[in-house]
Amino acid sequence: MTKTVKSPINGYKVKTFDGGFRSKSMVSINQFTKASQINKLFAVAKRMERIVKARKPNKILNEVTIAELFYQPSTRTFTSFLAAARWLGCQRVIAIPGMTAYSSVVKGESLRDTIQSIEQTTACDAIIIRHPENNSAYEAANFASVPILNGGSGKLEHPTQAVLDLYTIYRKMGKMKGLKVGMLGDLKYGRTVKSLAKILTVVDKNPNFYFISPKVLKMPREEIKLLKQRGAEVTETENLKKVLGDLDVLYVTRIQKEWFKTAAQQRLYKKLKGQYIISPKLLKKAKKKMIVMHPLPRVGEISYEVDEDSRAVYFEEMRMGLYTRMALLGLLTGKIK
Ligand code: NCD
Repeated sequence: MTKTVKSPINGYKVKTFDGGFRSKSMVSINQFTKASQINKLFAVAKRMERIVKARKPNKILNEVTIAELFYQPSTRTFTSFLAAARWLGCQRVIAIPGMTAYSSVVKGESLRDTIQSIEQTTACDAIIIRHPENNSAYEAANFASVPILNGGSGKLEHPTQAVLDLYTIYRKMGKMKGLKVGMLGDLKYGRTVKSLAKILTVVDKNPNFYFISPKVLKMPREEIKLLKQRGAEVTETENLKKVLGDLDVLYVTRIQKEWFKTAAQQRLYKKLKGQYIISPKLLKKAKKKMIVMHPLPRVGEISYEVDEDSRAVYFEEMRMGLYTRMALLGLLTGKIK
């Protein structure tokens, strides 16, 4: 029987990665059910790393056509997917970074119609999508006949970011379990932290999380409940200094300004922003081998001086996105076995 993962919103289903990646969508981090799936993916990512480091692009995706539809701004996810496709010889990438400005979405077209239209007009083999609604990638996968790759949906999921973040931990720390992982900032609206915490429970039966945030931006209760069910130990605090010295990984995030919509919320945003700033002075309290990660963009929460610190890995982290997205495109289209 094919195992599936159900959307928490309306019951749309996607297949788990049991039995492999070929022809499947990557919509939710919950599709990863076993560490062996991640090991497989990372073995391919290492091969991709060698291709890029040797500057030897190849033709693995030569026959493939890919569409990229972004309904939210992006610097890294958009370009690294585009570059990943091209490093693997994809000749036909139809990439639209401004769906909300330039497509018929402006005229009120629904997501299901857009997805089915793009499939027809481009004859694509896969669609990469970023969208502000939580259910968007599930919906797209439900109406597409080709794999959907979720480049970030709403406040809940950013599975390809979690893959690159975990790959960064693996490459930098040499292991993925037994680590004390601190997640700092906007844990309420941020999607990267939710996906990363969940993928860590697949590779570590007893992960140790420190969720550090202002009270109003705490990790949602249902996420905490799920992580605990999966064996995680969770410490929640507002006090970064108290726990900093214990951490092996510090994953920093920005306060997600776009979700603070009303005048009162905007006032709250101004109050919250600047509450945590990672500086060289603060990092004196951290372990020498701790790594500082950030999905970026940063808007002041890590000072530029920290970039010189060998523990700052957020620039390399983006490059890991190129390698892991090459691996994902190859595996999901079935061109890499
Ligand atoms: C993140 C996102 O879109 O969720 N960006 C990214 O993909 N690296 C993080 C953010 O916007 O804060």
